[in-house]
Amino acid sequence: MTSIARSILIGAALALAGCNAATDDRNDSASPADRKGGERMVAPVLLTEDAKDIHSYAQPAAARVTHVALDLAANFRDKRMEGSATLDLQTAPDAKEIVLDSKGLEIGGITDGQGRALKYAVGPADPNLGAPLTIQLGGAKQIKINYRSAPEAGALQWLTPEQTAGKKHPFLFSQGQSILNRTWIPTQDSPGIRQTWEARIVVPEGLRAVMSAEDLTPKGEKAEGGRAYRFRMDKPVAPYLIALAVGDIGFKSLGPRTGVYSEPSMLDAAASELADTEKMIDAAEKLYGPYRWDRYDMIVLPPSFPFGGMENPRLTFLTPTMIAGDRSLVSLIAHELAHSWSGNLVTNATWSDFWLNEGFTSYFENRIMEALYGRERAVMEQALAWEDLQKEIAETEGGMSSPATKLHIDLKGKDPDEGLTGIPYDKGAAFLRMIEQTVGRERFDAYLRSYFDRHAFQPMTTKLFLEDLRKNLVKGDAELEKKLMIDQWVYQPGIPANAIVPQAPEFQRVDQAAKQFAAGALPVQNLGFGQWGTAERVRFLNGLPRQLPAERLAALDRAYQLSNIRNNEVLFAWLRLAIANRYDPAVPAVERFLTSMGRRKFVAPLFEDLVKQGEWGRPIAKRIYAKARATYHPVTTGTVDKTMKGGGAS
Ligand code: BES
Ligand code: ZN
Repeated sequence: MTSIARSILIGAALALAGCNAATDDRNDSASPADRKGGERMVAPVLLTEDAKDIHSYAQPAAARVTHVALDLAANFRDKRMEGSATLDLQTAPDAKEIVLDSKGLEIGGITDGQGRALKYAVGPADPNLGAPLTIQLGGAKQIKINYRSAPEAGALQWLTPEQTAGKKHPFLFSQGQSILNRTWIPTQDSPGIRQTWEARIVVPEGLRAVMSAEDLTPKGEKAEGGRAYRFRMDKPVAPYLIALAVGDIGFKSLGPRTGVYSEPSMLDAAASELADTEKMIDAAEKLYGPYRWDRYDMIVLPPSFPFGGMENPRLTFLTPTMIAGDRSLVSLIAHELAHSWSGNLVTNATWSDFWLNEGFTSYFENRIMEALYGRERAVMEQALAWEDLQKEIAETEGGMSSPATKLHIDLKGKDPDEGLTGIPYDKGAAFLRMIEQTVGRERFDAYLRSYFDRHAFQPMTTKLFLEDLRKNLVKGDAELEKKLMIDQWVYQPGIPANAIVPQAPEFQRVDQAAKQFAAGALPVQNLGFGQWGTAERVRFLNGLPRQLPAERLAALDRAYQLSNIRNNEVLFAWLRLAIANRYDPAVPAVERFLTSMGRRKFVAPLFEDLVKQGEWGRPIAKRIYAKARATYHPVTTGTVDKTMKGGGAS
């Protein structure tokens, strides 16, 4: 028996132990979790060694959560979510207890489904993982936990009215990935333990709650202390994908199954920027099969959202910095949408398998971009990612031989977000692109489509993926096996020799222009910069030497208004260039940018760049950080604090 079959059987056997039986019918097109009908879907848990999640206290072989029902109120005054979580469990016949993940939760009491008190204990807390919450079951198949989250819960950012666009109402949003949801939801917070869920959220009158689930009450309902909003996710999802936003939130429809939420003043700009979303779904479905989450909505959050995007099912969370006015940054949408397959449908079983989420998604993102905007733009984006990958490896201690450059990574003793780099994204995508170009696109697409179908709503480990790839794509072809160098790509550091470097012909012109401009041989108005798209502009700015005469920088800035440009990717590339040149006139723009948003991808490198500029940059960094820090999300301050303390790279 293959280890795929074995691990699934173990998962299925465990599922059978509970009342909602799940059987191993994954050879049919419908996986266990896909089944329709009255009873709740239960997804299998993998119990093999490679699927063991070192970032969770859960012991799913003994007892696991299958469903979470939240009943919570958002208390903005105290910065707490307060109420209860009712969990449905499946337990092995001899299981006496269940272990949940928790971090900073204040537990009021735990009962079984009938309201009988259950004994529980909170174990010692680890700074990254939080503490195990062990509950004596006494045969219970359902437990209710009364609790509240701590004001400093890492998953929650409580914004004051001043931190919003409207300035009148407070705002709250959650960010679960990777192991933050245990700071507001007491459950088994492991990506391999999928759970269906529902929620009732009470918020102050005048505010609206939205979640990554079906919205049962778009207008809300009258409730004690405010308005209640109810949600239901009937597909089993990894618990890091449960997400909430509360604020003065409006909605605009974009198409039959797409729409956008945001603060009212940003709705029109957001809707216009995201107008191509419906087409992206169509393109994605043509590539890798049906979109299985019914609707795809997005919410544009206030500027402190620390990421570009987060693929919360049915409701992608987005940074407002993606609004460029010309739809030039929508590869971010292609990316988060692609996660509806790679990540949300087939999910990394552990955070060591993170590349299965992000590498597949980066590859898929680029295929969607190609389908919508053509090959040229897609290849330019590949080439930029390739350049980033080379730089990132060069800046990693140990370079090409650093273990951090492996796809499957060892996270022992680490927070999964600590080693978060571009490598799983860009090396992962380069690996899949190499396979595509080796076996041919048609064959690879057919394989990927069948992969998503076979493993829908299930966790996936690196080892299982490689088994699946060999069984269904390589099929014993020894010559192909040798050509692909699969194990080297996945388990060894660096970039294998069979990598295929993306060639964007447009970039040859751009690189040439950068060289000539740097040498003073090409006047600014003859650059072509005005006609270029975002990718070319970024490539050009990144390609300029880090020592340029101030008047050349001034000419660039003047001609193309770089310090005031609306496109944040171009602005970011410009400010990095300016800082590396210790170019004083750009400092106000640096300050404006760093005090207007908190996206870590922009914030962290700019502070690093400033600190690297010693006596020139460090005081600037200090001054701006003193002003901006309070507005940033803990994800962002966590990274920047290290830079400011250490004085080196983060
Ligand atoms: N899922 C990630 C964001 C994430 C990763 C959050 C790890 C926490 C831990 C999301 O899909 C992502 O990759 N976002 C990128 C954008 C993308 C286009 C590379 C980002 O936020 O920059
Ligand atoms: Zn992603």
